Amino acid sequence: MKRKYRLVIIGFLFLLLFQVQASGKEQIDWNSRWPLSLISNYEADNSDSNDNPTGDANKGEQQTKETTEYEKPQLVIPVVPATATVTAHHEEATSASPSPGTSTASGASPSKTPIAELYKEFNGTLFRSGPSDSNKIALTFDDGPSEVTSDQVLDLLKTNGIKATFFLLGQNVSKYPQVVQRIVDEGHVVAGHSWSHPRMDKLLPERIDKEIAATEQAIFQVTGCNIALFRPPYGAVNRETLDSLKQSGYTVITWSVDSLDWKYPHELNQVRYSTLKDVKGGAILLFHTMAGKKPSKVIDKLLPELIQTLQSQGYEFVTVDELLSVPAYK
Ligand code: NI
Repeated sequence: MKRKYRLVIIGFLFLLLFQVQASGKEQIDWNSRWPLSLISNYEADNSDSNDNPTGDANKGEQQTKETTEYEKPQLVIPVVPATATVTAHHEEATSASPSPGTSTASGASPSKTPIAELYKEFNGTLFRSGPSDSNKIALTFDDGPSEVTSDQVLDLLKTNGIKATFFLLGQNVSKYPQVVQRIVDEGHVVAGHSWSHPRMDKLLPERIDKEIAATEQAIFQVTGCNIALFRPPYGAVNRETLDSLKQSGYTVITWSVDSLDWKYPHELNQVRYSTLKDVKGGAILLFHTMAGKKPSKVIDKLLPELIQTLQSQGYEFVTVDELLSVPAYK
């Protein structure tokens, strides 16, 4: 009997180990995603990254992965402290950054400064909202450009005569350049959101710089705009990330209102509530233009209503640079 139990336990442990290894592999064709000039540099320090891709994924799998990323709240929603007034999943991620003791071979030592202190320290560089005595608020859309939902948003903004800010992923810019051009042509602001959507507070400095530079380069190649606004994925920043961004001439933007559209794409009541409960003057509102071929229900059914509600309450929609009186481009 005992021996039988032991065998079952050993078998279970093997299974567990296999699962952990399998889940550690990411299906990204990494080389196809960096601009050529950056590939050779990147490969040199590839082994330092903890989100290393394998290299045999096709585009369909990439799409699926990007879409399902929104369904992994354990990555981006740590426990919200009882004192928190805003449920900003990305910001909370910051406090979960590695402790100073976890330095890597090449000397990276991500800091674990509480986000509130970083907002003070990087006053004038890091913003979650604008002046609260103003009636201006800013709509922002992350993770584009995308095939369907970006156009959906642009159509809606056009109908309503509203300008917004789009935080773009470099890897998508090269896939859908025509969408990026449309964003700029219609008077909206393009900004950076990294190349491949990593948690930048967990990267080595060299990799942070590449995420920034590659995105900047991709947007410049398509639009001729030299972006000066940047939003780190998940709002996950530490001192190293902010230093790099500041040195590269960026204003770093998080948000004060998380619509939670990434978490509840089909629950419009929830998204309506999450959005309206936190809006006040100077608010920066976070929405997404998600990857995939399906139109977004939030953009189609809810966003027109939210825009109308907020306008009837006296709010005026502006781009982030206008809200904060900072340059959108260098
Ligand atoms: Ni994002």
